[in-house]
Amino acid sequence: MSHHGKKQRTFLRLTVSQRIQHVILFTSTGLLILTGFMLLGERWAIDLFGSAGNTIFYWRGVVHRIAGVAVTLVCLYHMVYVVVSEEGRSWLRDMLPRLKDGVDAGQNVSFMLGFRKARPKMDRFTYMEKLEYFSVYFGMFIVILTGTMMWTEWLWPKFYLDVADALHLGEATLAALAIIVGHIFTVHYNPHVYPMNKAFIDGQISEEIMLEEHPLWLDRLEAEEATATAAATEKDVEKRDDA
Ligand code: HEM
Repeated sequence: MSHHGKKQRTFLRLTVSQRIQHVILFTSTGLLILTGFMLLGERWAIDLFGSAGNTIFYWRGVVHRIAGVAVTLVCLYHMVYVVVSEEGRSWLRDMLPRLKDGVDAGQNVSFMLGFRKARPKMDRFTYMEKLEYFSVYFGMFIVILTGTMMWTEWLWPKFYLDVADALHLGEATLAALAIIVGHIFTVHYNPHVYPMNKAFIDGQISEEIMLEEHPLWLDRLEAEEATATAAATEKDVEKRDDA
């Protein structure tokens, strides 16, 4: 409740489980990008560290592997979560691509070019969010597979390892760019939430952003609430009748 007596409604965007999965995903991915791209450093830059260079590089490899295991575990956990738990199933259901996403994408581009007056009305996940989510599946599949191959290099012929290395580096570059360009611009520089969307901390999304970015989801939540209230009232009436 604000001081003006007008209720500022917020909605649950990310549950505790989703926030924990997200923290593990971004800390381990951050470490993987850092410790992975260190390998591309120039010799002279490494020499600046003198004899500490070797120690740093030893720990670089260890941290990359620990973070690799962490990211693998959280991915496996997530895949079970979206099948087994009610919360996860609802997440996946709302995330699945639909024909409407293609229409939304076209209309949103028209809006940005000034050919449409309003943005298309979107649901719980926008076509951009769906793209980002499924890109992570694809990317993680590639880096986990090829990273595991390089980790167990004695098992593979050289040609396979060369392919794995090229794919690993290519996907790592894509992922780093996707995160820097896509994610940072949509959830940090987005004028509605700048300097950052705090939903990843408190899980909440404001009514203002709901109306702007997810009006169809707001409609759905309100309809659910109305049904729940109606059911509760009916029960109350029944109880009174019984008494
Ligand atoms: C977002 C995730 C990841 C990123 C951004 C990333 C990044 C990188 C980069 C840039 C390299 C250097 C490649 C080259 O110079 O050709 C590398 C090497 C490597 N990565 Fe990853 N990686 C990721 C995930 C993983 C995972 C999940 C594993 C293990 C399961 C892993 C294991 C390795 C291994 C074994 C190497 C070979 C170099 C070394 O011994 O450290 N990586 N990674």
